[in-house]
Amino acid sequence: MPDFVPVGIVGVGTCLPERVVSNKELETMVETTDEWIVDRTGIRERRIAKNEEATSDLAVEAARRALESAGVEPHEVDLIIVATATPDHVFPATASLVQDRLGCPKAGAFDLSAACTGFMYALVSGAAFISSGTFKTVLVIGAETMSKLLNWKDRSTCILFGDGAGAVVLREVPRGYGLLASYLGSDGSGGPLLQVPAGGSRMPNCHQTLDASLQCLHMNGREVYRFAVRVMGEAALEVVKRAGLERKDIDLFIPHQANIRIIEAAAKRLGLPMDKVLVNVDRYGNTSSASVPIALDEAIRSGRLISGNNVVMVGFGAGLSWGAVTFKWQ
Ligand SMILES: CC(C)(COP(=O)(O)OP(=O)(O)OC[C@H]1O[C@@H](n2cnc3c(N)ncnc32)[C@H](O)[C@@H]1OP(=O)(O)O)[C@@H](O)C(=O)NCCC(=O)NCCS
Repeated sequence: MPDFVPVGIVGVGTCLPERVVSNKELETMVETTDEWIVDRTGIRERRIAKNEEATSDLAVEAARRALESAGVEPHEVDLIIVATATPDHVFPATASLVQDRLGCPKAGAFDLSAACTGFMYALVSGAAFISSGTFKTVLVIGAETMSKLLNWKDRSTCILFGDGAGAVVLREVPRGYGLLASYLGSDGSGGPLLQVPAGGSRMPNCHQTLDASLQCLHMNGREVYRFAVRVMGEAALEVVKRAGLERKDIDLFIPHQANIRIIEAAAKRLGLPMDKVLVNVDRYGNTSSASVPIALDEAIRSGRLISGNNVVMVGFGAGLSWGAVTFKWQ
C-alpha cells in the first residue's frame, strides 16, 4: 500500500462584511439588552452583509486572500469545496460560482452541507483528496450569510449569528506536520433541534410557510446548548487521543465560536487555561461554517501559532453534527 501524503494548511484568508451590528443596535429591533446578550453568550457585536451581498462574494474574497498567503496561483487549484448553509442558490453550487470568479480553470467544485460543522467536514474531505494522491492543491472555504436565514423578530436566535467567510489552502507538507487525526460524527435524531423547516423538498416554500417564518432558522437553544457542551469536550478529547497525544500537548484550541459559556465549559473539560483557547465570538458572533477558519486566521495573524504547535479545532451544529481535527502547525 502506498504511503499517505501528509497534508496541511499552507494559506489562510478571511472576509468579513464591513457593517458592524452591536447589541445596542439589536435593542432597537427586539426586546433584549446588551447585558443579557453578553452575559448569556459573550457576544458584543457581529458583522452583517449588505442586502445585495451574497455568500459567494465573501467566499471569493476569503479565498483570494488564502491563495495569496499560500503563494498559490488560481490555475494551480485542483478542487474547491465550499461549506455553507446559506448558498447563493439551491443550485448551481456556490463553489462553482467561486471557481469561475477566482479564475480556477482546472478546479472541480462542490458545496458541502453540514451547517456549523461544515468547515470541519470540508477540511477532512479536502485533505483526503490530497493524502490519497488524487489532487495536489485543494481550497476549502467556510462561508455564510446567516443574517439572511434569521427571523429578525425572534430574540432567541437573531442575536446569536453573524456573517463572514474563511478559507484555507491545503497541500502536501513535510512528514510529521499537518493533519494528525480527525473525527467526524452525526446524530440525526437531533435534527429538529436546529433547523430551517421550509424551503426544501419536505416543505417547499409557499405563502403559509412564509407567514409562519418557517423559511428561517428555528432552534431549541437549551437542548443545543447541552449537546454543544458535551460534544465539544468529547470530540476534542477523541481527536487528541487519535493523534497519539495527551491534553497537555495541546498548544492551541480553536473551537467553533457559538457561545463563550460553551467554549469555557469545553476548555474546563480539557483542563486548558483560557490563554490556550482562541476566542473571538465577542466580535463576530456565530458565523456557522466560517467561524473556525476565521478564528484560525486570527491565531496566525496575532502570532499565537508557531511552528511545531499542536492545534485542536472543533466544530458542532445542526444535524446534529460535530467534527474535530488535530494538526501540527508548520
Ligand atoms: C440561546 C441561549 C443563549 C439562551 O440562553 P439560556 O440561558 O439557555 O436562556 P433560555 O433559553 O433558558 O431563556 C431564558 C429566558 O431569556 C429569554 N430570552 C431569550 N432570548 C433573549 C434575548 N435575546 N434577550 C433577552 N431575553 C431573552 C427567554 O425568553 C427566557 O425567558 P423566560 O424564562 O421568561 O421564558 C443558549 O441556550 C445557547 O447559547 N444555546 C446554544 C445555541 C447555539 O449555540 N446554537 C448554534 C449551534 S451551532
